[in-house]
Amino acid sequence: MNPRKIKDNIFWVGAVDWDRRLFDSLMPLPTGTSYNAYLIKGSEKTALLDTVDPTMSDLLLSQLADVPSVDYVVSHHAEQDHSGSIPLILQKYPQAKVIATSKAKDLLPDHLGIAPDRLMIVADGDTLSLGDKTLKFVYTPWVHWPETMCTYLPQDRILFSCDFFGSHLATSALFSEDDDFVIEAVKSYYATIMMPFRLAIQKNLEKIKGLDIELIAPSHGPIHSKPASIINAYAGWVSDGLRNAAVVAYASMHGSTKAMVQHLVNGLVERGVEVHQFDMVSASIEKMATSLVDAATIVLGAPVVNGGPHPQVAYAAYLTNILKPKLKYGAVIGSYGWGGKMVEQIAALMPNLKVEMIPPVLCKGIPREADFRALDQLAAAIAEKHQALN
Ligand code: FEO
Repeated sequence: MNPRKIKDNIFWVGAVDWDRRLFDSLMPLPTGTSYNAYLIKGSEKTALLDTVDPTMSDLLLSQLADVPSVDYVVSHHAEQDHSGSIPLILQKYPQAKVIATSKAKDLLPDHLGIAPDRLMIVADGDTLSLGDKTLKFVYTPWVHWPETMCTYLPQDRILFSCDFFGSHLATSALFSEDDDFVIEAVKSYYATIMMPFRLAIQKNLEKIKGLDIELIAPSHGPIHSKPASIINAYAGWVSDGLRNAAVVAYASMHGSTKAMVQHLVNGLVERGVEVHQFDMVSASIEKMATSLVDAATIVLGAPVVNGGPHPQVAYAAYLTNILKPKLKYGAVIGSYGWGGKMVEQIAALMPNLKVEMIPPVLCKGIPREADFRALDQLAAAIAEKHQALN
């Protein structure tokens, strides 16, 4: 795409990656993504805010073809999808300085080979004049690495937020249009990228509270023209509040665990618990992660395979552990052939989670009447605990 005007002398110069299907070799991108870079032309100086993933640097360079000089390149975040094209920009504009936080001082040379003498370090609250426009830097650690910051442009009331408030959406829309759809995409992005840093993000939300914001311009997905709805949604996700919801992640080899999952899910739904059920053999893990944002309980259902839980369920436990959702309760159900230590092994995969484990329901072979009654009791216990939360 060509440069797109946001306001006078402020342009989107990014790249839309319609075809990318995996981020960090981990998270599915069903709707692609974008790498948003922004060009701000002040009356005296010009700044480029972020760049694009190195796989698409030719698109950024073509958008800058008619830009004779760039004085500053703001690196909000050293990760490659935003700072990976900085070396090419520095070649094109030999006088340009890279603006970054002190935490990026090593990250940019280490990850991208940027010469330390090209860096200009800024602190929280520092300002940089472009003439008639001013960049104010707001240090917002852990959105998504320790060095991340945002830039506020007071004259135009724009917050350039990089990963913060971003969404993996490839779209030709410069501004968000379908608010519910975009908020769900922002929630999914939060779940897969930000959730482990929930407490730091609470502080960052406090920090931007005092800014008069008309537009939030993240570095993934569309620009938000209703910033309050996105900020309020984020505030809910990072709060300590939990929904009366359970995530049930399972695998089944011969149908026994699946029968148990179906019975438990029926019991939960009958008792008013919202359920998100995922067969880990085929589930899209970003959907599971999104469901974990505010669920109160996770139930892992697995058959025993060679003495331990089915590996796809072990993966679900491990992934949940590193995403650190604010879960309160956990449970294990499943079927075994002759023995095994599945419950202990699953619990050992989740040391980061401060969950109360509810007694498991395990059955030998196919589930029978007594097993289904035990699942009813588990559903009742989960529903009672959720009611007590509220
Ligand atoms: Fe969009 Fe943390 O990179």
